[in-house]
Amino acid sequence: MEQLIQQIENYKQEIDNIPMNGAAALEEYRIKFLGTKGIVKNLFGEMKNVEPAKKKEFGQVLNEFKQFAEAKYESWQSTIDSSSTATGSKAGIDLSLPGDPLPLGSQHPITLVRNQIVHIFGRLGFSVAEGPEIEDDWHNFTALNLDENHPARDMQDTFYIHQKPDWLLRTHTSNVQVREMEKGKLPIRIICPGRVYRNETISARAHCFFHQVEGLYIDDQVSFADLKQTLYFFVQEMFGNDVKIRFRPSYFPFTEPSAEMDISCLICHGSGCNVCKHTGWVEILGSGMVHPKLLENCHIDSNKYTGFAFGMGIERITMLKYQINDLRLFSENDVRFLKQFTSAV
Ligand code: PHE
Repeated sequence: MEQLIQQIENYKQEIDNIPMNGAAALEEYRIKFLGTKGIVKNLFGEMKNVEPAKKKEFGQVLNEFKQFAEAKYESWQSTIDSSSTATGSKAGIDLSLPGDPLPLGSQHPITLVRNQIVHIFGRLGFSVAEGPEIEDDWHNFTALNLDENHPARDMQDTFYIHQKPDWLLRTHTSNVQVREMEKGKLPIRIICPGRVYRNETISARAHCFFHQVEGLYIDDQVSFADLKQTLYFFVQEMFGNDVKIRFRPSYFPFTEPSAEMDISCLICHGSGCNVCKHTGWVEILGSGMVHPKLLENCHIDSNKYTGFAFGMGIERITMLKYQINDLRLFSENDVRFLKQFTSAV
């Protein structure tokens, strides 16, 4: 047995002196020491020749040797692995091969158009303001002059989370406008993009949630002419210089006077088609001069300040811009639809 132990000692030295150079040498080493007919295996075969009283001691020495030889193998291998990823050559990896293509996602069309809208108004000095989607009655309705019996509060339109006190999913992003006005820092020139919720039957034209961008500009001497010019600029930037606009008198509790704005139909250019229901015009937003009551509700002096506000649905703008005829496509996550926007910026 002494002889065997001496032999093991010699093997250890041999292993220590092997230069670690390359995968081929490593494989050679593996076969010689760790292979099925290798030295370690053979030494275990010697066990039966060791006298019984010494078996335990020999077994220990042998196990340690086995671990030593394996550890050497592993450390050698990891050196080769890391150097081959660095140089690519030794392990036979060809780093000049083209990689597997990574499928690139695309921006969702709603995000795309939202960013475009933000960018256009940004150029006019409007900054983005955001606020909560779960809102209280005051910020969604009361402060906006929507009194208790206003039809928009109807259970059919609004998703209530809690009643008395009322908590609801905001039905428009005007809540952010109220929150900004309440801060009392004037002038205000903001746009409020965000998701809104209404209890509507889902169809090609309506959904129970959608996205809006509302805008608010309050300063001294803000006039309807400013509103008109701002929105005209927006429409031209968004849809091109040929687009015409028209204002129709309308009613919103939070603006006075109020107007809905149409653009000339992008499909038929006014001659009449299905999209514009043969009128030549398509409605895109609601707008008006901020009602003095709102200013007072938010402690802004309505004798000194005036403002305009507007609100549009991003889905509607996107449908017109990209000629999409079903609003449900935006939330179905069908990649065949989404993929079409890969190159849109
Ligand atoms: N808040 C209105 C809506 O959600 C849109 C709007 C905003 C209209 C501002 C006029 C002025 O329908």
